[in-house]
Amino acid sequence: MMKIISGNSNRPLTEAICSYLNLPMVKAVVKRFNDMEVFVEIQENVRGQDMFVIQSTSFPANDHLMELLIIIDALRRASAKRITAVIPYFGYARQDRKPGPRTPISSKLVANIITRAGADRVLTIDLHAGQIQGFFDIPTDNLFSGPVFVRDIKQHMDVGNTIVVSPDVGGVVRARALAKRLDAPLAIVDKRRERAGESEVMNIIGDVAGKSCILIDDIVDSGGTLCNAAEALIAKGAKDVTAYITHGVLSGGAVSRITSSKLKNLVITDSIQPTEAVRVAKNIRVIPIAPLLGEAIGRTSREESVSSLFE
Ligand code: R5P
Repeated sequence: MMKIISGNSNRPLTEAICSYLNLPMVKAVVKRFNDMEVFVEIQENVRGQDMFVIQSTSFPANDHLMELLIIIDALRRASAKRITAVIPYFGYARQDRKPGPRTPISSKLVANIITRAGADRVLTIDLHAGQIQGFFDIPTDNLFSGPVFVRDIKQHMDVGNTIVVSPDVGGVVRARALAKRLDAPLAIVDKRRERAGESEVMNIIGDVAGKSCILIDDIVDSGGTLCNAAEALIAKGAKDVTAYITHGVLSGGAVSRITSSKLKNLVITDSIQPTEAVRVAKNIRVIPIAPLLGEAIGRTSREESVSSLFE
């Protein structure tokens, strides 16, 4: 039988997934000793059950990762039949290659320790790079928020006058996929530093004049990438700029940077629990990801296709 258990990173998301699946959350305590060590106690029988642990490894990333590992360990020692780590936002994903000599590949390390703790499968959304799936030697499903975004865009925008924009060259594949779903054209922001010591120049590839731009990305952290791209697009005559971004990391002064930017709207999912500042920000809107996750969890448990969700 399928059962859902939650870490502390985003309990409202787990509650929404449970209500989508019409299931109660497994009774458990995930708490701290005085020195902040994580302690987990599962308060009901899980022997032989198909367990799904919901935990984003968002801020504070290390604490939330440790909670995930300890919950998996507790489930394994309690004889769960199968353990799926549902990690809506997979932290450490940006460290997926060596940017220089003597640097780590931390996403691989994190994949190793999640597997070693006892996870049998992983379920996540919009991994920073699809190849990270290969860092896990256990089945890993990488869901796409594309269909959720398309539905929202069709409800809120005049699709006929939109252009999808990748905020950097690295995001072109993601942007092209959305443009195809919307049957909209594509533009790319190409950031270049012509000479060392000079500031970056933002070149726009594509004609955005008079268009409503849809910036698409996996992560908004400081908001720098986004706000700079919005400014460059408006300078090129774009009518307005809306961004659709899966994971609202939104560290430091990101929210105030975004509220005072040229962005008309930033739409994020609740893969990371929104802070109060995010909830009250005038140009940030949060859309629920629980239906997509709930559906994928249900299908995984029933051994049905997950990819058909995206056809
Ligand atoms: C980078 O490759 C990612 O896709 C995002 O563009 C980046 O993490 C956003 O970071 P920030 O909001 O700090 O510019």
